[in-house]
Amino acid sequence: MVILETSRTDTRNVNPRRVGGDARATPLVARGVSKTFGGGFNPGRLLPWSRDGKGEGPRRVVDGVSFEIRRGEIFGVIGANGSGKSTLIRIISTLLLPDEGGVTVFGLDVVKDAMAVRALINRVSADPSFFKSMTAMENLMFFGRVYGLTPPEIKERTPEILRRLGLEWARAVEPMSHLSRGQQQKVAVARAFLTSPVLMLLDEPTTGLDPRSKRDVQSFISDVRREHDATILLTTHDLDEAELLCDRIAFISGGRIVAEGTPLELRRMVAKGGDVEQIDMEDVFMEITGRDLAEDEEGGSGQ
Ligand SMILES: Nc1ncnc2c1ncn2[C@@H]1O[C@H](COP(=O)(O)OP(=O)(O)OP(=O)(O)O)[C@@H](O)[C@H]1O
Ligand SMILES: [Mg+2]
Repeated sequence: MVILETSRTDTRNVNPRRVGGDARATPLVARGVSKTFGGGFNPGRLLPWSRDGKGEGPRRVVDGVSFEIRRGEIFGVIGANGSGKSTLIRIISTLLLPDEGGVTVFGLDVVKDAMAVRALINRVSADPSFFKSMTAMENLMFFGRVYGLTPPEIKERTPEILRRLGLEWARAVEPMSHLSRGQQQKVAVARAFLTSPVLMLLDEPTTGLDPRSKRDVQSFISDVRREHDATILLTTHDLDEAELLCDRIAFISGGRIVAEGTPLELRRMVAKGGDVEQIDMEDVFMEITGRDLAEDEEGGSGQ
């Protein structure tokens, strides 16, 4: 299970062609992806204390989502809590099946060619799993080997990655359970970038980090993109981060993509000929989605 969480099996620096994909194909194409939760047998419906006597009905949490990410691009998906971002990422990373629509990674279908897709992607989840009693270094040794790296390669790469992420070496040789959430998050980012994955799925990589750590992780991500021509899908609640890192941004609300464009294009949609610099990106989000980014969608319109 832990291994599955890394969304990666046994290879590194994989050329999409080696696993049957097309290196010239668009790294990520999503077409009409939908996912509904609930609606099956729900014992809550039979219980007298169920809120409305019927229990929760089915909820369409990802609703007809389509987009493409080009090679070397950082594509941001921005939405409030519960808007469907992680569900979408779990579908792309083959951990969850879509009900409708499809996703291809370098031309490979995430359902039919799941194993091959896993060799091409890596994911940083919002709550990464590690062996908590082992040190960060031991965890990286373990996962690095799962990814197909040799121990000397892992030992050679890790200190430099951790340095760039601003994690002191002393922390790397302590049990993971002694590290703060933010420090563990950095180890998760390091794990994902130990190899040079072709497509990175970063689910809130900087949430919960202090401002300095946030900057370290952000510059690491943009450096890696520049150095390795990686293609990155990133979710965040931080609009400044989205503008700083992303070439294009999609706003998601109630499981639907309600707008997509470069940060400038999104500003222009709202500026209506006025000065784009004068508009706060938070206001752009609110104007386009009709919601506050800080507002939780749980139990809201995600039907
Ligand atoms: N396995 C599941 N079973 C039932 N409902 C689920 C499941 N996973 C997610 N959901 C529901 O789907 C909706 C979208 O959740 P998701 O985790 O995709 O949101 P998110 O945009 O990632 O939110 P956050 O910003 O808080 O991470 C939520 O209402 C959530 O409760
Ligand atoms: Mg999430």
